Amino acid sequence: MDGEKPFTTAEMISQMMILLSAGHETTTSLISGLLYNLLRNPEQWQAVRDDPKLLEAAIEETVRFTSPVQMEPRVAKEATELGGVAIPQGARLNIVYGAGNRDERAFADPETFNVQRPQVGRHLGFGWGIHFCIGAPLARLEARVAFEVLRERLPHLRLAPGFVPEYEPSFYFRALKKLDLVWDR
Ligand code: HEM
Repeated sequence: MDGEKPFTTAEMISQMMILLSAGHETTTSLISGLLYNLLRNPEQWQAVRDDPKLLEAAIEETVRFTSPVQMEPRVAKEATELGGVAIPQGARLNIVYGAGNRDERAFADPETFNVQRPQVGRHLGFGWGIHFCIGAPLARLEARVAFEVLRERLPHLRLAPGFVPEYEPSFYFRALKKLDLVWDR
């Protein structure tokens, strides 16, 4: 914008690093989470297969339920109080979007994955406010395309018998280590 200094090389490299990491692991985890959430709820998998309009809801419900980005750091600009806890100026905080996404005051039966949930897109999985995820439209598009291609090419996709989910040991990301699937040719 007029009057603003251009990025320095260091700032540009930092932006590229953010874009690469923010745009890769997150969507991988969204797509694997979407498949896992639907395949272990076969009636919801069937409903989404039969009604393409439900796919959008399934993607949003996965962003809420799985919350691929669990938290983001902040520094308190001024002293405040939140939920009865005093937060001093300068305190370093982790805003846990994943916890907000399972808050029973905001979501009925929050521990249940439900693509028919009312106001399904009203979650914190892409953040909130000025730092709302710049890549949200791309992430939603990638998940939709991946699901549509898999639905068409592998119609009898299912979880491998005995599959036990294991997650990466990370506070920040919620990502399956792997997803074992089987299908008929
Ligand atoms: C499922 C996929 C994704 C999830 C769950 C996700 C989640 C988030 C969250 C929670 C934030 C807010 C950070 C904050 O509050 O400080 C954020 C910001 C951001 N995301 Fe994503 N993201 C996803 C995909 C992407 C993609 C595909 C890109 C880019 C190609 C991207 C780029 C960014 C960037 C650059 C920011 C920082 C925006 C800012 O600070 O103004 N994200 N994302």
